[in-house]
Amino acid sequence: MPNTTVALIGYGYWGPNLLRNYMELAGAEVKWVCDSRPERLEKAIARYPSIVSTTDLKVVLGDPDVDAILIATPIGTHYAVAMEALHAGKHVFVEKPMAMTVGECDEMCRAAEERGLTLMVGHTFVYSPPVRLVKSIIDSGELGDVRFITCSRVNLGLHSKEVSVVWDLAPHDLSILAYWLGETPLSVQAMGRSCIIDGIPDVAFLNVRYASGIIAELEVSWLSPVKLRRTVIVGSKKMLMYDDTESVEKVKIFDQGVDYKDPETFGEFQLSYRTGGIYSPRVENTEPLFVEAAHFIDCVANGTTPLTDGASGRLVVAALEAAQASLDAGAKNPDERRGRVERRRRAREE
Ligand SMILES: NC(=O)c1ccc[n+]([C@@H]2O[C@H](COP(=O)([O-])OP(=O)(O)OC[C@H]3O[C@@H](n4cnc5c(N)ncnc54)[C@H](O)[C@@H]3O)[C@@H](O)[C@H]2O)c1
Repeated sequence: MPNTTVALIGYGYWGPNLLRNYMELAGAEVKWVCDSRPERLEKAIARYPSIVSTTDLKVVLGDPDVDAILIATPIGTHYAVAMEALHAGKHVFVEKPMAMTVGECDEMCRAAEERGLTLMVGHTFVYSPPVRLVKSIIDSGELGDVRFITCSRVNLGLHSKEVSVVWDLAPHDLSILAYWLGETPLSVQAMGRSCIIDGIPDVAFLNVRYASGIIAELEVSWLSPVKLRRTVIVGSKKMLMYDDTESVEKVKIFDQGVDYKDPETFGEFQLSYRTGGIYSPRVENTEPLFVEAAHFIDCVANGTTPLTDGASGRLVVAALEAAQASLDAGAKNPDERRGRVERRRRAREE
């Protein structure tokens, strides 16, 4: 089978990671890197002299050799770049979150479907070995029924001037939860605060409720003295902790819980506490981005539907929109609320 020829659009912070992985991938050939900033292109070419560079997206889209486009531009540009690429007949991989609104996601899905093109979203963690292992543990029933999940994704992170921490970090946990639970959130509520840049929340707490009764709390922040990437799942039989900052024991299963015994006499009930062992299964050590890249190329080559397709991207954007609406409604005064709406409008126009 001939190689799939790809072009990377956006060589800022994240684009180099995509490029490195696609350069190593059998079955893919990177022909172009496109960035509106020439100085970024110089960096790409210095590293990979075989690649052609341009600041003009139209030049890339007009190249009949190009089969697929990888989009790693800022979030507010995803929709416009993806639609242009789909209209030019190119398969599209777009970074998370897929777009800024559910309406944009719907249009992207429709455009891809009408043309028989692959549309995949970069929900990278769905391709990460520990996340996949946790999915298999949940599906095996070892934890029993999942009751609730808490996720902490915090560090002293780069403050975005474009979007809040919710749009930057929460897509990771929302996509992981969608993959694990196979459910769409019933409701999302959020509370946040803009501590450093006015109108751009840098800390937020999201509460997510699912139809099955499962509830989840997501803490996302760029303001923390320590880096946490920790998720705890409490099941009816066992509990699990997934800590992505651990180098070896990323997943731990705790044989711990509380059992309720029906009362034998009126007004009396008994609780028995289990504090059994803890074990940590072996986790494969493959780079999630490489698995993700290989999956995209496979889907393009074979016409199969990606695990993180447009529908899964849309689901995450729907949850983000709900969180944003909740944040806006909770903004403490009308000026703050107006500031947020205005910043989002400007980011989309840039
Ligand atoms: N999957 C992950 O784990 C992960 C991690 C970080 C970032 N991301 C995503 O990657 C994307 C990029 O994030 P970043 O932090 O690299 O942003 P960035 O601002 O550092 O880089 C974006 C680059 O795109 C270029 N650009 C902007 N508009 C363009 C256009 N129309 N055509 C060509 N080039 C254009 C900019 O000049 C810049 O170099 C975002 O969607 C972000 O959410 C994903």
